[in-house]
Amino acid sequence: MDFSFLPKYYPFFVDGAKVTLVLSVFTVFFGVILGVLLALMRMSRISILKILATAYIEFIRGTPLLVQLYIIYYGLPKIGITFPDVPALGSAFPDFMAGVLTLSINSAAYVAETFRGGIQAVDKGQMEAARSLGMPHAMAMRHIILPQALRNVLPALGNEFIVVIKESSIVSIIGIGELMYKADTVRGNIFQPFEPLILAALIYFVMTFTLSKLLGVAERRMRTSD
Ligand code: ARG
Repeated sequence: MDFSFLPKYYPFFVDGAKVTLVLSVFTVFFGVILGVLLALMRMSRISILKILATAYIEFIRGTPLLVQLYIIYYGLPKIGITFPDVPALGSAFPDFMAGVLTLSINSAAYVAETFRGGIQAVDKGQMEAARSLGMPHAMAMRHIILPQALRNVLPALGNEFIVVIKESSIVSIIGIGELMYKADTVRGNIFQPFEPLILAALIYFVMTFTLSKLLGVAERRMRTSD
């Protein structure tokens, strides 16, 4: 193995890792918001909401992320939906938007099921007690059920973050300069396929392993405070 390219090329990996992290943070943020919404819709008594949410979740989970990415990146512009060019944010911004959008749309379907599980795991006596105290359904949901559900789902949400960090490597294919893309650039520049990819793998691993350890600590804290 020959890592003599590092002094010259390490900024590629640093930049790539930063973009991967930013991409993942945005994805998890939007994915959780959309996911909670979908979970509530799926459990709603209004059947049209329920049908829409179920169809969305099943369709997204039943099709490959790569196909979804291509539909959004190549397909949407063809039907007149384009991502705005914001000069201040650089020429790569529309591609970045397409990446975040696809990853969030995908992640939300998984987050929705996580939340549905977490909400359903709250003892139904909690809702009954809140209702018998005179709370309307929506208020009980917001103040009694959701806070308890959140604690149930926090570990799973952490895992979703880890999954998103890894899955985000797929957007390298539309030219977003994240870690996988940069590793590939270096591979092409120095005609060495092995070392840059091993390095990328190591960096991904450091990110996911650190996150998983942090989650372990947070989980233990929550258990003791129980
Ligand atoms: N690799 C999967 C696919 O091609 C994406 C899985 C995403 N999973 C998740 N929990 N966000 O569809």
